[in-house]
Amino acid sequence: MRHVELIKNVERDFAVTPDQIKKVIRDFHSEMREGLSGQKSSLKMIPTYVERPKGAEKGTFIALDLGGTNFRVLALELKGNRTSEILFSKKAVLRKDVITASGRKLFDFMAHSVKKIIKIHATEPDKTRNIGFTFSFPIKQTGINSGTLIGWTKGFTAGGVRGKDVVRLMNSAFRRAGLPNAKIVAITNDTVSTLVSKSYEDPACDVGVILGTGTNACYCEKVKNITKSRFANFTAGEMLINIEWGNFNKLRLTPYDRLIDKFSKNPGKQLLEKMVSGMYLGEIVRVVLKEMSERGAIFRKTDKTALNKKDGFKTEYISAIENDSTKELYHVNDILKTIGVSKSLYSDRKAVRRICRAVSKRAARLGAAAIAAVVTKIDPRLLKPHTVAIDGSLYEKHAGFSRDIRHALCEVFPTAVRKSGIKISLTKDGSGKGAAVIAAIVKNARDRVARD
Ligand code: GLC
Repeated sequence: MRHVELIKNVERDFAVTPDQIKKVIRDFHSEMREGLSGQKSSLKMIPTYVERPKGAEKGTFIALDLGGTNFRVLALELKGNRTSEILFSKKAVLRKDVITASGRKLFDFMAHSVKKIIKIHATEPDKTRNIGFTFSFPIKQTGINSGTLIGWTKGFTAGGVRGKDVVRLMNSAFRRAGLPNAKIVAITNDTVSTLVSKSYEDPACDVGVILGTGTNACYCEKVKNITKSRFANFTAGEMLINIEWGNFNKLRLTPYDRLIDKFSKNPGKQLLEKMVSGMYLGEIVRVVLKEMSERGAIFRKTDKTALNKKDGFKTEYISAIENDSTKELYHVNDILKTIGVSKSLYSDRKAVRRICRAVSKRAARLGAAAIAAVVTKIDPRLLKPHTVAIDGSLYEKHAGFSRDIRHALCEVFPTAVRKSGIKISLTKDGSGKGAAVIAAIVKNARDRVARD
């Protein structure tokens, strides 16, 4: 087969048509309903015991954020008038040995990072008491301050944590680190934090999405629709549901997706995540390039063994490659050299750019389909305005991603998107800030009980 046809085949494999988007929306709706009623579903639909803030919460709170490549500690001052200010925000890089050894090592690492950071910022001990913890992995919650890990995602494998209450693990690590006052009062997912952080400012926000190392979303559901559980002590009429949409599996997989899944740390799981999120997009491109070069379609005159290295093609290259507007595609050439492909023809570089485009466009269109499904689950006829808060490096740093999402949403809901019935809002630091807002909600509720 000529190389032009091979590239066209890849593009066809990765295309997501408007009809396929509509099918994803239908399948999402039925999986969501089943997950809410406790039947078998690829969507866990986890009740979070969190309601949206009122915007009047006040005070300074510390938040921890564990989710992907970094561990972040931040302090947020809530002013009580729908505005807030980050007092400090510091991150510690999570080395591979920290996330893949024992749970104790991971939790001790976090506690010591907190200790160092709050010492540098001379935070008063009192302010370390009520801490919100964004823990961005699937947990089964029995309340706002307890959650057991269902299973790790995104390459984390730290032993001895699955099935354990991560709030307890964190509080014990604080004690071991000599921080007896530090206490987690709320545990939350990054999607929930993002939604809460945005809705502190904007009451129309009812969906929170992460497009970063992993991908997931949460939304506001009526408690009466969550028929699988009863919620003693939770009096609000709505609760945020952590969908864990990364695990959605009603999808058309290409042979490349099957390979990625097979060699992942969690085969058979997180299939949507493996097609959409930053942890996998570069790897998909590498696998496609490898196959195309083996079939003699590209890189015929050079050594391409470099393409055999798992994770050798970083996701961030995709956006740089797509945006290369130089005449001979010099940036593409530089990136290929960086990964070890020393010589490339102009036709090779054009092929690489088309493959990157196909992979990232599919990711954005599937992300858009999932967003459309969630918004129409809340409001099937789109009668009200909805703000979708999005945080995550992929959405923030990949220039074409937000544009592709908007295009896809316009295809399915032309009127609502144009008339701002669906507003997509980049919510930077939402994943950290929201945990501080939730800690404030918990403190207010406790103060109320103490007063009554
Ligand atoms: C993974 C986690 C999920 C998280 C998402 C984004 O999918 O399972 O809990 O929200 O990554 O960080």
